[in-house]
Amino acid sequence: MRVPMIAGNWKMNTTADEAVTLVRSMLPELDKIPGVDKVVCPPFISLVSVKEILRGSSVQMGAQNLYYEEKGAYTGEISPLMLTGVCDYVIIGHSERRQYFGETIGIIDKKVPAAVNAKITPIMCVGETLEENEAGKTKEVLMRQFASASDRVYFLSGMVIAYEPIWAIGTGRSASGAQANETIGYIRKLIAHQHGSDIAESARILYGGSVTADNITEIMEQPEIDGALVGGASLKADAFISIVKQTAEIWSAA
Ligand code: 13P
Repeated sequence: MRVPMIAGNWKMNTTADEAVTLVRSMLPELDKIPGVDKVVCPPFISLVSVKEILRGSSVQMGAQNLYYEEKGAYTGEISPLMLTGVCDYVIIGHSERRQYFGETIGIIDKKVPAAVNAKITPIMCVGETLEENEAGKTKEVLMRQFASASDRVYFLSGMVIAYEPIWAIGTGRSASGAQANETIGYIRKLIAHQHGSDIAESARILYGGSVTADNITEIMEQPEIDGALVGGASLKADAFISIVKQTAEIWSAA
């Protein structure tokens, strides 16, 4: 039985003070919700202060990115080593990084093992653009994105996949539950094909893209979907708490 996960990707939002205020406002309620892995992913600058607040609670933390080298002359980058012991998870290959910062499949293929070696669990993002979707190329794109960043060892270490169709991110146009379920089912088949059904059945695959407190139920009722990577709605304490609560209710009833 897979444990569902709700992760909040705060993206480039919240000053250092705002991050502390936000996590303090959601922690007491989040901490009480059983049966769901709860993760917040603040900006780098707030990781240490948010970690202090989360200490001893059931809420975990992720970073939004990392560089794959351990240390050296890479101005502005954050290494896996720096995140070890600070973060439980790290988001890798988010479409905004692919789109705005030139992250290629080759770069992502180096970041995933770097995270695993540093004992930080990757949340690897995949997903197609609107044009690719409309041209019926979703499966082809996913297969390409998956080609090498899907080593058996990564899954054994708990790697989480987040399917985030780019056309659904920040647009208010979420994929329907059925649509997301079908594609996530396809991703699970890809994993089964590569690594066998045991690995595929234990792999957690999240949906991301305009998830809100109003549509989380439809998403979480789908059998293939193990949780959500939430952007905008994770910046509002009430909405994020509600998303986690609804997930816990649906999962415990299943
Ligand atoms: P939104 O929930 O704001 O659409 O963002 C989704 C996302 O990109 C999470 O990583």
